Amino acid sequence: MTVTKLISASALVLIGALAHAGEKDTLTVEGQAMTTRVAAQAHTPNLDEVFSGWIFRTDETQALQMDDFENPGFVFVDKGIDLYAKADGSEGKSCASCHENVEDFAGLRASMPRVVDGEVVTMENMVNDCRTERMGAEAWKWSSSDMTAITALIGLQSRGMPVNVKFDGDAAAQWEKGKELYYTRVGQLDMSCSNCHEDNYGNMIRADHLSQGQTNGFPTYRLKNAKLNSIHGRFKGCMKNIRATPYKEGGEEFKALELYLASRGNGLTVETPSVRN
Ligand code: HEC
Ligand code: HEC
Repeated sequence: MTVTKLISASALVLIGALAHAGEKDTLTVEGQAMTTRVAAQAHTPNLDEVFSGWIFRTDETQALQMDDFENPGFVFVDKGIDLYAKADGSEGKSCASCHENVEDFAGLRASMPRVVDGEVVTMENMVNDCRTERMGAEAWKWSSSDMTAITALIGLQSRGMPVNVKFDGDAAAQWEKGKELYYTRVGQLDMSCSNCHEDNYGNMIRADHLSQGQTNGFPTYRLKNAKLNSIHGRFKGCMKNIRATPYKEGGEEFKALELYLASRGNGLTVETPSVRN
């Protein structure tokens, strides 16, 4: 595993390479077994194996995700349950008025994002479409607490199901765009996503154990900011860390990147809501 690229980034201090994760790789949540490592597929030729970010966390952080009573993300899932039943907008409707059982969304998160008519459609897009087109309500901000509460509630319905995002056919053009962004160096540190999450996963960067940057656990509860974090919110944070101007949440670039990253995690199980530091 090469660390030269990281060392050349002077503002970052690489503490040292840890032995590759592997011992702590059995995740059961509420008795349900998750797939946290899986053989890489042909579309990720630079990876031998695909790992859930859970593997790289400390014992304490890992434990929080194994029990829903311990998982702080569930405070927000509960908020999502309330929001789901609450009427909003000019039509006086709630989500539940039309989607009676939230359980019917089982499987949806595992297939997201999708490409429809050449555009990447994320979970946030679907929720906001219903709000603006069907409820007469205001769109929620991409990473707002209301949005992440609802996307966590919907995502939870797919927990334990294997991610299976379509990236060929109609989706290929957006996938290629996401892939290009993933490998493009940006910012003052002149780094790409791949420099950290592909070339250096398993290594330490500052006090953090680098993962492959998978998205199967989102929205994810972070101990650092004590809330649920959206996928695009995390992308933004990583771009800021390399002193790059982040793309816009909900914009074309992050949506394409989301599609590409989701495809890199095909075969891992949905862990929403995951817990990270
Ligand atoms: C007035 C009825 C109505 C309301 C209210 C409504 N939706 Fe929808 N929703 C629909 C219809 C119709 C579709 C498209 C058909 C379908 O896939 O069920 C849809 C699609 C969706 C989808 C995509 C489903 C898929 O499998 O493609 C999601 C996710 C969703 N709605 C979430 C929500 C949420 C969350 C709320 C509340 C914030 C909400 N909806 C409110 C009618 C509604
Ligand atoms: C300087 C190194 C670095 C770069 C470059 C970087 N990240 Fe990260 N990223 C991190 C660190 C550190 C974390 C937190 C520890 C971990 O999960 O890897 C993280 C976490 C993530 C996560 C959360 C993973 C999880 O399991 O919750 C995602 C997703 C992610 N990054 C995506 C990206 C994307 C997309 C890019 C490119 C735009 C990028 N990162 C660039 C360092 C980096």
